[in-house]
Amino acid sequence: MYAYSHCDLSPGGPVPVSQSTVRVINHLDQDYLRQALEHDVRTGLSASPKWLPPKWFYDEAGSELFSRITRLPEYYPTRRELAILRSRAADLAAASGADTLVELGSGTSEKTELLLEAMDEAGRLRAYTPVDVDAVTLVAAARRLAGRFPELTVQAVCADFERHLALLPRTGRRMVAFLGGTIGNLEPAARAVFLKELRATLRPGDTFLLGADLVKDTGRLVAAYDDSAGVTAAFNRNVLRVINRDLAADFDPEAFEHVALYDERQEWIEMRLRATRDMRVRVGALGLDVSFEEGEEMRTEISAKFRPEGLREELAAAGFGVRRRFTDPEGDFTLVLAAP
Ligand SMILES: C[S@@+](CC[C@H](N)C(=O)[O-])C[C@H]1O[C@@H](n2cnc3c(N)ncnc32)[C@H](O)[C@@H]1O
Repeated sequence: MYAYSHCDLSPGGPVPVSQSTVRVINHLDQDYLRQALEHDVRTGLSASPKWLPPKWFYDEAGSELFSRITRLPEYYPTRRELAILRSRAADLAAASGADTLVELGSGTSEKTELLLEAMDEAGRLRAYTPVDVDAVTLVAAARRLAGRFPELTVQAVCADFERHLALLPRTGRRMVAFLGGTIGNLEPAARAVFLKELRATLRPGDTFLLGADLVKDTGRLVAAYDDSAGVTAAFNRNVLRVINRDLAADFDPEAFEHVALYDERQEWIEMRLRATRDMRVRVGALGLDVSFEEGEEMRTEISAKFRPEGLREELAAAGFGVRRRFTDPEGDFTLVLAAP
């Protein structure tokens, strides 16, 4: 039995499970997760330079740390996106005409309430489908929103948005939301694949709501990923705790320093973990020994920053046209409503 708090609710695959007023559909059973984690850790730790994909940050503890990050003074994206949603949710509800909100990488679904309220006020709200790899946070958020909107059909889907888009429920007139700038965690090639796959699942009348962080002053960008309270550092190291727990590894997380830097050419933030001494790490479940030299850095996340024109081009390349685009008054963050 592995200690995943990722989606191990329903071993055996995508079987709907009734959970009070929330229906849970699980595409991430333990075998799938185990194989995916093993594959990613083996590939990333055998590469030079080493890297790990960001989705493994998000067990229950990682989601809680991310939630704390969103409230930090340095972390402007959540506040900016919230400000846009507060003033524009009604426009978005009207322009989309949606009765069903599907949310990719929904996490705690805190901002979502504004969209659901606007759809409700427009008299169209029928269904909410949050989608996330972290089962615990997903189901807690789904239950909270089912309680807040008693008439709402809530189906929580435990899935990987890089693999399972084609399996998501397609009923209703859908607005698929991808908030928080999470799109920036995908490298350009993966982003193009993701957008094309998403486009292929949409039907006439469906829309795509994308939240993206914009290119800005480097100092502010770096501070947002290297806060003075060290919460982002704890979040970054959490990936090592996940690997220790789930793959019987013996990383000493405190022997790795948190690094955040801005790559001006790529226009993305990189988070890395830097070894503070020479180390040999055993990943027991993989029979893998990995050496780190003092000062060696391992990439754990990119967070791409966008320019409005670049975003429009990426969406167009995947077959989306921009219907509405809103930016907060400071010009920090953008929300784009796109349609096939
Ligand atoms: C940066 S957080 C954003 C959370 C929330 N949408 C917000 O705006 O505050 C990314 C979320 O996506 C989820 N996530 C990351 N990779 C994922 C993947 N490949 N498939 C599904 N969910 C994923 C994480 O568990 C986390 O909840």
